Amino acid sequence: MSQVMADTDDERSGGDLRGRTAVLIGGGSGIGLRVAHRVVAAGGRVVLGGRTASRLSAAAKELGDAAEWCTVDTGDLDSLAAFFDGLAHVDHLFTTAASYRVGPMRELSAAEAASPFESKFWGQYHAVRLAAPKLAEDGSVVLMSGAASARPAGLAPAYVACNAAIEGLGRGLAVELAPVRVNVVSPGTVDGHLWSNRPDTVRQAAFEQYRRETLLGRPATEDEIAHAVVYLFTNTFTTGSTLYPDGGYTLR
Ligand SMILES: NC(=O)c1ccc[n+]([C@@H]2O[C@H](COP(=O)([O-])OP(=O)(O)OC[C@H]3O[C@@H](n4cnc5c(N)ncnc54)[C@H](OP(=O)(O)O)[C@@H]3O)[C@@H](O)[C@H]2O)c1
Repeated sequence: MSQVMADTDDERSGGDLRGRTAVLIGGGSGIGLRVAHRVVAAGGRVVLGGRTASRLSAAAKELGDAAEWCTVDTGDLDSLAAFFDGLAHVDHLFTTAASYRVGPMRELSAAEAASPFESKFWGQYHAVRLAAPKLAEDGSVVLMSGAASARPAGLAPAYVACNAAIEGLGRGLAVELAPVRVNVVSPGTVDGHLWSNRPDTVRQAAFEQYRRETLLGRPATEDEIAHAVVYLFTNTFTTGSTLYPDGGYTLR
């Protein structure tokens, strides 16, 4: 491990992550894994969390010596507490881990409607709560939201509200945890791992709608979102912000 660290705010804002550890829960795939690649390329280390050991170990192998992993379920408080007990120090935290149902109010059961809040909102809330004692004063948290908060894509009011709540949580935590910086990334539709696991017809209809309805005419890549996350990790004067890497979706 490199002992060299970026010392000044200007070096850190320049994207230097030498000597820094980013904890990426959900980092075994998708956007989290792309963030891991960017952190390692910038000289940092990563700790990957997720529920599936084989996925995490394959991702860590891809990343090399700068990566460690540990299984964790963000829906289980004991599991989350054990995960953070095992960590000495956290410089940056980003949690893409979430499992939920999305759909119209008239169709979802009460438990399905609550699932984005249960998993995506409370999962991230408790991850930050348990990480807080170990967070470096000059470190940061990036919360994962989704641009549906600002412009609903389909019939999914509880999911829309959950994302809006996460953006509010980011502002509230920025105040409580300062000088630790807390920001939110709120992507539009991303052509990557999450959508590749949905039925072809559903994915194609969603991507077609996104091409029509966003200014840049296409979904994002996972790496474009990862770039925004690493910006939020490293810009030393950004806190309480929500960044929308959405190709202009929320403007149309
Ligand atoms: N992709 C998009 O279009 C898009 C757009 C806007 C927002 N988002 C948000 O991005 C997040 C998903 O990230 P992604 O797109 O990169 O998808 P992804 O590749 O499916 O990543 C989710 C990761 O989280 C892990 N995970 C799921 N539930 C977990 C739990 N309870 N505890 C621990 N780990 C868990 C999964 O691994 P295991 O199953 O092995 O645990 C997986 O590695 C969600 O919050 C989603 O709302 C995505």
